[in-house]
Amino acid sequence: TQTTFIAVKPDGVNRRLVGKIIQRFEEKGFQLVAMKMIQPPRELVEEHYAEHKGKGFYNGLVDYLCGGPVVAMQWKGKGVIARSRAMMGATKDAAPGTIRGDFSIEVGRNLVHGSDCAEAAEREIKLWFGEDKINYEDACEKWIYE
Ligand code: GTP
Ligand code: MG
Repeated sequence: TQTTFIAVKPDGVNRRLVGKIIQRFEEKGFQLVAMKMIQPPRELVEEHYAEHKGKGFYNGLVDYLCGGPVVAMQWKGKGVIARSRAMMGATKDAAPGTIRGDFSIEVGRNLVHGSDCAEAAEREIKLWFGEDKINYEDACEKWIYE
């Protein structure tokens, strides 16, 4: 089973959307295995978004993520990496019905981050959490998976 890294960005926290965003993943059937609120230091965000270094929006992106508290999470489940990306919506012009599509307008205030592949998930979990996560029995597993 996969585990992915999901973060509610500072706009999501300040707009009181943390509960709604968490609810989407819970309702889907994914399992929350780690969560913390953190005011991320600049170096952490720079490393997190290292792939975008040099792009025109990079400095603004780092300012945005450092501009308030972030709710960092690990979610576990079958296909959770791609499925959670689909639930978040596209980077640009996210469709209605997705988190970004329903609650945001601009690409630079898009509420939520999710790892885009297994390698990224592993790297981001290590970066934000180290080894911290809680493995506990998923009591409703048999009602979610066939
Ligand atoms: P993340 O899950 O946050 O990584 O978003 P993503 O994977 O959908 O997009 P990507 O990794 O390409 O970009 C990272 C973040 O940079 C996006 O979520 C946006 O907040 C921001 N971003 C990407 N492209 C643009 C852009 O063209 N302009 C601005 N202002 N911000 C951008
Ligand atoms: Mg990305």
